[in-house]
Amino acid sequence: TSPKSLDVLGTTYATDSWTNTPPAILAKTGRDLLHQTSHPLAILKELIFKEFPTFAHYDSLSPVVSTYQNFDSLGFAQDHPGRSKTDTYYVNQSTLLRTHTSAHQLQLLAAGSRDENGILMQAKNSAAAPRNERFLVAADVYRRDEIDASHYPVFHQMEGVCTFSREEVRDTARQATAAKRQDKAGKVDCPDQAAQMIDTTVVGDGNPIQAAHSAEEAAFLVDNMKQAMNDMVVHILTKAVAAQQSSGDACAPGNQPQFPVRWIDAYFPFTSPSWEMEVLFQGEWLEICGCGVMKQEILNQADMPDRIGWAFGFGLERLAMLLFGVQDIRLFWSSDPRFAGQFSPGRINSFRPFSRHPSCAKDVSFWLPSGSTFHENDIMDLVRETAGDLVEGVKLIDSFTHPKTGKGSRCYRINYCSMDRNVTNEEINGVQELVRKRMVEQLGVTLR
Ligand code: PHE
Repeated sequence: TSPKSLDVLGTTYATDSWTNTPPAILAKTGRDLLHQTSHPLAILKELIFKEFPTFAHYDSLSPVVSTYQNFDSLGFAQDHPGRSKTDTYYVNQSTLLRTHTSAHQLQLLAAGSRDENGILMQAKNSAAAPRNERFLVAADVYRRDEIDASHYPVFHQMEGVCTFSREEVRDTARQATAAKRQDKAGKVDCPDQAAQMIDTTVVGDGNPIQAAHSAEEAAFLVDNMKQAMNDMVVHILTKAVAAQQSSGDACAPGNQPQFPVRWIDAYFPFTSPSWEMEVLFQGEWLEICGCGVMKQEILNQADMPDRIGWAFGFGLERLAMLLFGVQDIRLFWSSDPRFAGQFSPGRINSFRPFSRHPSCAKDVSFWLPSGSTFHENDIMDLVRETAGDLVEGVKLIDSFTHPKTGKGSRCYRINYCSMDRNVTNEEINGVQELVRKRMVEQLGVTLR
């Protein structure tokens, strides 16, 4: 028996025979990983936002969207398998947890106009509701899917939408290629980056240019889109490799990594032609992004028939796992400080795996014996001897000299954690007692 209503992010929704979102999934809607500034996904989001400074940036749109937004507005057929309850988390028949950031395309293009029910389509965090000609949306998306090290029912995407007026395209299409190269050369960190890309595009017969677009318009959009995506991916991967080699300067001659990219024909109801973008990174072709020329119906619906555009949808987890060396997608959802504590805003660094078992910190404070030559490593040895592999780390957390007696005081924090089993508090307390006793006996300290 299912509940009569569901609460999602403070709003109550009536349930029906379509409702299939379990509590564990609902609990994820409030985690807000993209706003934890030291979280790898938030760091990656910021990196991408920075790559597109002239685009509007959205990262606070609610994951609860209408079935219309997620599917109908994008031209999904009524019998498209994506709509099925086996693939999608429904709140009720007309409301669901977005399965992709494309759900916001029409709403953000048309902000200020009305949807099929006459409801004002307004972006939550755009007060003035401007119509957006270029924007990025970073958000959590939800899909019922298999379980393995790289799949999780909640993940994150970055949508990019870029439109041009047909007039602008007509005027610039012919010089576009040359102009763009010149324009770019001054802006990117490594002027040769674009040249490193190996484009093995294959446009298949089943991937047509839309009737609403001239060959010139389509060619302009495809070229512009690929260039923008190349630049973004190469820039981010170059940063990552520099971080891994800690060479500091990825642009130094002879130090320029190669990132071949290939574009595989794909199908999406809302773009044509469409591709999956894959990048060769450390020997593997990674599928990281779907993209294509936006279906003109969407722009017409948004009251922009005079504009044409491209769109991409980037999966953030895949890229973040690579950049930060995170092996298991579940770690992104860990609230263990040993995960979050390893990252900081604006920085790409490699994650150091930690035990899956909980750790336990114990402090010990003491006066140093007067007149002796005390070395920190004496403590390290003593703890290692006493606790064996149960000790994960020992860190000085406080140190001072008494102004009157001249005696030195130290406080060390000992982190206990087993690599292969859960340890009881009693066991740890016993070890800590022994450590304290031996410090007095062997190092002559006075415990405080
Ligand atoms: N929304 C698509 C997906 O999740 C990706 C995509 C976005 C494709 C934009 C084309 C254009 O798979």
